[in-house]
Amino acid sequence: MCGVVGFVSKHGLAQKNVLRGLSCLEYRGYDSTGFACIDQQSRLHIQKVVGSLNNLIPALEAKSIDGTIAIGHTRWATHGMATLENAHPHTDCGQSLALIHNGIIENHQILRKQLQQQGHTFTSESDSEVIAHLAETFIQEQLRPSAILQKLSETLQGAYAYIILSQNFPNQLLIARNRSPLCLAIGKDGIFVASDPLAFPEQVDQMLFLPDKSYAVVTHNEYQIFDFVGNLLDVQLEKADKLVVVSGKGDYEHYMLKEIFEQKQAILRTLYEYKSGQTIQERLGLSTQAIKELEEITIVGCGTSFHAGLIGQFFLESIAQVATTVQLGSEFRHKTFLPRKKSVCIAISQSGQTADTLEAVELVKQHKVPVVALTNVAQSSLARESNGLLVTQAGPEIAVASTKAFSTQVATLYWLAHQIALVKGLIDNTSMLQVEQDLEAVASMLEANIAVHKDSIVADLDLYVSFKNYIFLGRHVTYPFALEAALKLKEISYIFSQAYSAGELKHGPLALVDATVPVILFSHPDESIYKKIVANAQEVKARKGFLIVFACQGQEELLELADKSFIMQTGPALLSPLAMTGVMQFFCYVLAKKMGRSIDKPRNLAKSVTVE
Ligand code: M6R
Repeated sequence: MCGVVGFVSKHGLAQKNVLRGLSCLEYRGYDSTGFACIDQQSRLHIQKVVGSLNNLIPALEAKSIDGTIAIGHTRWATHGMATLENAHPHTDCGQSLALIHNGIIENHQILRKQLQQQGHTFTSESDSEVIAHLAETFIQEQLRPSAILQKLSETLQGAYAYIILSQNFPNQLLIARNRSPLCLAIGKDGIFVASDPLAFPEQVDQMLFLPDKSYAVVTHNEYQIFDFVGNLLDVQLEKADKLVVVSGKGDYEHYMLKEIFEQKQAILRTLYEYKSGQTIQERLGLSTQAIKELEEITIVGCGTSFHAGLIGQFFLESIAQVATTVQLGSEFRHKTFLPRKKSVCIAISQSGQTADTLEAVELVKQHKVPVVALTNVAQSSLARESNGLLVTQAGPEIAVASTKAFSTQVATLYWLAHQIALVKGLIDNTSMLQVEQDLEAVASMLEANIAVHKDSIVADLDLYVSFKNYIFLGRHVTYPFALEAALKLKEISYIFSQAYSAGELKHGPLALVDATVPVILFSHPDESIYKKIVANAQEVKARKGFLIVFACQGQEELLELADKSFIMQTGPALLSPLAMTGVMQFFCYVLAKKMGRSIDKPRNLAKSVTVE
């Protein structure tokens, strides 16, 4: 995890640019933050703090340190607690260099031991610190910067993107990447390096992504990129994407709330994008024949994206008639992947940077199965690694809890299933038009449902926050939706919540139910499924469970059983989770707010999970 940023300036001072870049990278973690620069007298300054940039800025102001070359780091703790000692930048024994790192050095223990035997003293528990001490030994051998980077690439194992700032090379940044992302941009005052183009200032219009397994030496006006064998690489610059503008919270107290209310527009924008421009064949990178002959779809994703995939499975199987499996990115590597010949993988990731999902994609590609990225970030690693691309138009999602990314992913999968059905001749153009209208209507319902229920949710907040645990239940498409609801509630309120398929209740979880345990049951518009849901609701009431239902219109029997209820407009049955999404997210949001939680940046989490 973590975000790294560096700037070598022609004449100006680098601090301002590095801090601005860091503010855009906090989605990668906020356990600690650090800054280092070399001043005009070639002195190295390092300042680090526990916590976010808000803590670093006053610390830097107090010391007024700056220079023409600087680096910054925002950390999500993996090896070692979130302490000052473990914060980056790390330094060598001679305190002459500063090192920032994103990733995990897998052979850090053995390297640490070897370096300690050579007399190096370590001051942190962090795996990253070995890079600083190794670089120190290579500098002592009087190696040139590129040779130092070469030697480091031969020694380090694991995932990394790092930047080294050294008094021995006071005008150069030494950078390298292996699996973790790193990009570089040319500004009019110097060169920027960062984990993500988001960290580059708006004026930058040319940038490049460092190829995997490469390193570079960067000055204020030039850079040379090499592969790990030492060959000079010719990497083309591309136009920097100017669309990624992170607007503020506006009148909203939290980004999460703003993003909940942006969902209708996000779905409409996403649909608009799909309806214009490229054909479905171009988007998927598959021929008409290949789409017609598809035998199997494998979906991979993590967290909320995995839940969207589970809902999408129902669409792809029932509408597009393609056998579909959904896999957690982190579990995929431990399984035996036996793809059929005519197979495609859909990798879902809001950020397009989730390491577990990227790793799964790499494995899929080894089997020569084409990959379609379903992501919110068109320039992400996932988008660049994939053969096809479906870009949701949710706009930047800042809150750690995913909201509008989820709803646009679900809308995309519904649209995609129908597009495949259209290519296969299972539906006609008129039905496709109806599908798009349905999606637009459900986007409006999502918003309208919040307006109807928000006051009653707020009125009962004292009751809702008094519960220590929550059980969520659903059936068919509302089962994965229940999984998403449980994730949302636990993530931002820290209340223990668990989701089950309503039918599974009697196979064990019912033992948990009594008057102190609230059960939130998501109903389903389909009559036959609804009947089963009513039976499950009765099972809860028979054990005195406190029953909260998200019901569809006209479901009187269920409403009679409920202690609290929210009646939803739902549209087509398969889209019922989408229609319920806003109210479910709002419910979780106001509970967390009432409990005084750090909603946009929950404890222990980060927006993008870039470690495996
Ligand atoms: O960027 P991704 O969609 O790949 O992220 C996957 C998960 O880390 C993410 O959905 C996470 O579960 C959210 N914080 C949930 O709200």
